[in-house]
Amino acid sequence: EDIAGLAAFEAILAEDSRIEPRDWMPEAYRKTLVRQISQHAHSEIIGMQPEANWISRAPSLKRKAILMAKVQDEAGHGLYLYSAAETLGTPRTKLTEDLIAGKARYSSIFNYPTRSWADVGAIGWLVDGAAICNQVPLCRASYGPYGRAMVRICKEESFHQRQGFEILLELSQGTPAQKQMAQDAVNRWYAPALMMFGPPDDDSPNSKQSMAWNIKRFSNDELRQRFVGMMVEQVKVLGLTLPDDQIRFDEETGKWQHGSLDWNEFKEVLAGRGACNSQRLERRREAHQDGAWVREAAAAYALREQRVEVA
Ligand code: 3HC
Repeated sequence: EDIAGLAAFEAILAEDSRIEPRDWMPEAYRKTLVRQISQHAHSEIIGMQPEANWISRAPSLKRKAILMAKVQDEAGHGLYLYSAAETLGTPRTKLTEDLIAGKARYSSIFNYPTRSWADVGAIGWLVDGAAICNQVPLCRASYGPYGRAMVRICKEESFHQRQGFEILLELSQGTPAQKQMAQDAVNRWYAPALMMFGPPDDDSPNSKQSMAWNIKRFSNDELRQRFVGMMVEQVKVLGLTLPDDQIRFDEETGKWQHGSLDWNEFKEVLAGRGACNSQRLERRREAHQDGAWVREAAAAYALREQRVEVA
């Protein structure tokens, strides 16, 4: 360890300031950031698939345009995050190879199927809502490029959540069949959305160190209960219900309690045995192959431009 470097690193953290790419940092700090930021980036890119499934089947031109904009935003979020990960010395080609080889994690939530149009609303309202809960504190992450990427992402995420909420509200106020479709989607996406926040605190090996390094500002359970508190109010406006009759506010602890979650299901999904894991990876592999010509053309163009500048 570099004594002076470590002292400078710890001083920056102590004043809750930012570590920048050229600052000295412990290898373990760099490693956990590449781990988290690359997984976050992979989540954004894989997360395009469940919703893209409904772009060609959106119920109106307006809904199609909004959904296309959202899916394109997710691609951009992936781009910002791969760029942030690259400032730590790992090229995105390596990160993409790991994802395609099935060696990289991405958020559990994207391994669930989107069975109806209402799922696009439930994803916007619940999944992007959970993402906002998790990502707002990350705007203050100690690693500069990550925190700054989050600021831009969170701005777009709030549009994502609003459009999801509006889809559910429209369905809930529609025919009884439409209302039932919306309720069915909320019933299927509620628990997986709560599990997005990660395992319970007493089963979260990275949390303690991540919090000591000001990467993670609040624990998994803290953010999860905060999210439940937000959804409890919003679901009333939707005229729908959350599939959890154990939700209550604990006056003593000041925290929201909720029903137990199926952590075996979570572990199965993380082990690649979720409903859609293999199809998500297969689609990502295809997209990478289909896009090879674009990468080759861009590289050839850049090389030619370089030659023109040198000549
Ligand atoms: N999906 C997949 N893996 C998960 C997970 C999840 N929901 N939650 C936890 N894990 C993994 C962790 O990566 C870790 O495995 P690893 O050591 O091999 O990386 C293990 O389970 C133990 O979890 P920990 O709590 O110890 O791990 P972390 O401290 O990293 O906390 C986290 C997990 C809260 C997800 C944190 O990594 C984080 O905040 N990541 C950034 C946010 C993010 O990735 N969000 C994903 C959603 S992107 C999105 O929502 C797109 C939206 O716009 C639609």
